[in-house]
Amino acid sequence: MEETKEEIKARLSIEDVVSDYIELSRAGRNLKGHSPWGVDKTPSFMVSPEKGIWHDFSANKGGDIFTFIMEVEGISFREALEKLAARAGVELSRYSGGDKEVTKKKVRAREALELATKYYQFALSKNKAAIDYVFYKRNMNKATVKEFRIGYAPNSREALVRFLKSKGFTVAEMEAAGLLNQYGGDLFRGRMMVPFFDISSGGIIGYTARTLEKDGIPKYLNTPDTLLFNKSRFIFGLYQAKPAIREKDFVVIVEGNMDVISSHQAGVKTAVATSGTAMTEQHLKILSRLTKDVRLAYDGDEAGMRATERAINLAGSLGVQLSVISDYHGCKDPDELIQKDPLLWQEAVQRPMPAVDYLLSRYEETLSLSTAAGKKEYSDIAMRLISYLHDPVEKKHYEQLVASRLDVSVEDLIAKKVSFETGVHRKYYKQVKNTNIPAASRLKVLLDSLIAIQIFGGEAGAKLDFELPEDETRLSELSLIFEEKFGSLDEESLKKAVSDLRQEYEKESIKAKVAELTLALSECEDDEEKTAEILREIKKLRQ
Ligand code: UTP
Ligand code: MN
Repeated sequence: MEETKEEIKARLSIEDVVSDYIELSRAGRNLKGHSPWGVDKTPSFMVSPEKGIWHDFSANKGGDIFTFIMEVEGISFREALEKLAARAGVELSRYSGGDKEVTKKKVRAREALELATKYYQFALSKNKAAIDYVFYKRNMNKATVKEFRIGYAPNSREALVRFLKSKGFTVAEMEAAGLLNQYGGDLFRGRMMVPFFDISSGGIIGYTARTLEKDGIPKYLNTPDTLLFNKSRFIFGLYQAKPAIREKDFVVIVEGNMDVISSHQAGVKTAVATSGTAMTEQHLKILSRLTKDVRLAYDGDEAGMRATERAINLAGSLGVQLSVISDYHGCKDPDELIQKDPLLWQEAVQRPMPAVDYLLSRYEETLSLSTAAGKKEYSDIAMRLISYLHDPVEKKHYEQLVASRLDVSVEDLIAKKVSFETGVHRKYYKQVKNTNIPAASRLKVLLDSLIAIQIFGGEAGAKLDFELPEDETRLSELSLIFEEKFGSLDEESLKKAVSDLRQEYEKESIKAKVAELTLALSECEDDEEKTAEILREIKKLRQ
């Protein structure tokens, strides 16, 4: 593995790999550009061609070409390795040893799915009812059908199985691709076939298949999780939407796969869907690497509101700005709106409402704020929503807003919040799970600086005794951090910097400890004794 990595690194320069994503300009020995995570105003992304590493000072990440591709594409190390190996022209199978069997199975599954897709595409061109459904009922045009590789699975017991057999595929291979039912026949029959494109390679990894009948059951049949397809990570349409998301710097999450397709056809090419499942942290993580502006176009029903609240909770720790697109002009979903008028949808995605405002105003509509019970429920919900937020200014803004809606003082509201924090309200602790992340990451920034000075700062770092990394890439990254942040300081200033950094480090360590304990609180819900003990410890730390 090390060998392969080195071989690939020798063939690909960090500048080439990074500049596919970021515009770099020269800054002395290094290159710099804007953070691909969109968190900087002035360029904070540095590349050292000599060292073969990058460091993003605003997002606080760094590493080599592999970590860069993992972060920016939201893929695993293995996938990044495969991608870069292909680009470098390095043969992977020679090295991969134990993974070889799995890799081979995956390759065969991909081949089977590619052929199946072609088969379905061909079958569509031959079936009048399917053509009618795709082009007239669903109003897809030729370009859309081609881009999304829409097809049709004939209504037959084993038409596809026979076809793939004739092409040399075994039953086990078809099974691994997720194409068979429990009897070894075709899983998909008499349905419109909508392929799932692998987010990074664009290869086919599965399907969602819609019945052509008005009340066919199930409406959609999806590929089960396989070696290639994992529904809690998969984002429908992302392969096609990626360039537009990068360009426009926002993403629209719709509920249905067909909403994605109509959306693209209507010119809103930033639309994606979490295919038939609720949004997971992994989904949002993958998207947050492409843009921080995430716009939800969910159903306005109760399930949609719950999903929105969940997303707000997830978004806080990822630095995502979440908003809601809610005006469908009386239509039930984006697809229906687009059929009515594509312009209305194009406008709607430009006018999202911040997600917290959206939920608050929805609850205002449903709860009666003139009664004590209504006020209590509204403030419970509002404080819960506010507890998900990480930005103190944003928190304050909503506290003031909610207080004025309830016609109480912010202090009264804060008193309520304090009762949450002292452990009366268990719910609150569950929700803080991620608040230790910003503290931890500030801690990491401070630690990076201190270690960098310890190694490269000569006299000024001599008294520091943090544990030093041995990893080559990490050392290079630290030297880049030292150069950028402290390289121009004289001895005196550097010593001053060390003492400031140490102080702040102490402070942040305590904060991180408190956050950790708060998290522990949620784990011992019913243990009164333990809860009390942890609360005492928190109090001690805070003094
Ligand atoms: P909807 O029933 O709202 O689907 O389900 P839709 O996209 O509007 O479908 P059309 O327009 O009638 O064709 C939303 C999503 O839930 C999943 C699918 O991913 C669908 O896009 N779903 C729904 C299933 O996986 N299976 C089903 O049987 C129904
Ligand atoms: Mn629909």
